[in-house]
Amino acid sequence: MVRSSTAVLFLSVAMASAQTTTPRKLIASMEGKDLYMAYCASCHGVSGKEDGPAAAVLSGPLADLRTLAQRNKGKFPLAEVENVILTGQSARGGHGS
Ligand code: HEC
Repeated sequence: MVRSSTAVLFLSVAMASAQTTTPRKLIASMEGKDLYMAYCASCHGVSGKEDGPAAAVLSGPLADLRTLAQRNKGKFPLAEVENVILTGQSARGGHGS
């Protein structure tokens, strides 16, 4: 009897904690700048000028994100940037390959 009530208690606690557990956010903010700092700055650098700490060990040349619009006739290439982020591919080759 004691055993089964212990098991019931254990199960209820386990179920209750499973129900209240929400997935942890990797970063607290979903603002563009914070996302960039968390996911992109390691390679592209804090200001996008190819000087992140991981840039030195990459095999290929890194893209200068500050000149994206300039290199696209003055217009920010939103669709291409979205494609790079969503698919990992860019016009210049495999992003991160
Ligand atoms: C592991 C290092 C690394 C990380 C992290 C990284 N990138 Fe890149 N990125 C590169 C390299 C290397 C290139 C150049 C080669 C290529 O275009 O695939 C590049 C190219 C790009 C390009 C294409 C630029 C052009 O001139 O065509 C864009 C846009 C870009 N990255 C955006 C991002 C964004 C946004 C993030 C964060 C979500 C990010 N990158 C994270 C290494 C990285």
